[in-house]
Amino acid sequence: MAILLSPSMLAIDFANIGENLKKAEDAGTPYLHLDVMDGVFVPNISFGIPVIAGLRKSTQMIFDVHLMIVEPEKYVEAFRKAGADIINFHLEATEDPAAVIGQIKATGAKAAITIKPKTPVEDLLPYLSEVDMVLVMTVEPGFGGQSFMEDQVEKIRTLSKWKKEQGYTYDIEVDGGVNLKTLRTVLDAGANVIVAGSAVFGKEDVAGAVRDFMEVFKEYEG
Ligand code: DX5
Ligand code: ZN
Repeated sequence: MAILLSPSMLAIDFANIGENLKKAEDAGTPYLHLDVMDGVFVPNISFGIPVIAGLRKSTQMIFDVHLMIVEPEKYVEAFRKAGADIINFHLEATEDPAAVIGQIKATGAKAAITIKPKTPVEDLLPYLSEVDMVLVMTVEPGFGGQSFMEDQVEKIRTLSKWKKEQGYTYDIEVDGGVNLKTLRTVLDAGANVIVAGSAVFGKEDVAGAVRDFMEVFKEYEG
């Protein structure tokens, strides 16, 4: 199975966004991870709909939009219209996750569901047959540059096991503290979409950082 890199824009040099996106795209990055924070669901504010709409004109990368906002159902159509290809929402942020999944799919985007570190992976069970991707957070959402939470790796293993046993088709994405040191741990556990902020856009040599990740992916793709 192909392993996909989804570098998080949160760590980009915002004074030179276009240039740095191009470096990542030219190095073969398939996805761009866009962290939307509302200051309510998480204790931080990042960027939103107009920024994503603007970026859509400058890159072909698949937009993997991670909504860290309350009541995502209010904004699904707007994010899709802005250019989101994958809309990723938090299970904890809505009263009716099944409805949000249906709403996302109705826009033509791929639907992904995410849990915070303290949420048990079993809470995802009712939704696994419906989603295109599940995102396991390996830090508390809200900030880039935090340390990888090793105790979340078991969730990746469990999702990978359920996928095999039940024939589910979701991708398993991991987000938070992933770098060249922690990468093999998440790949061994079964993750196949890898978010990395500090370890890609936080580096001086963005293209080199992308290539370093891809070298490791090759070992696993077989
Ligand atoms: C955290 C965000 C992450 C963050 C990852 O709330 O969801 O996507 O940008 O950054 P690093 O890779 O630096 O942990
Ligand atoms: Zn994220």
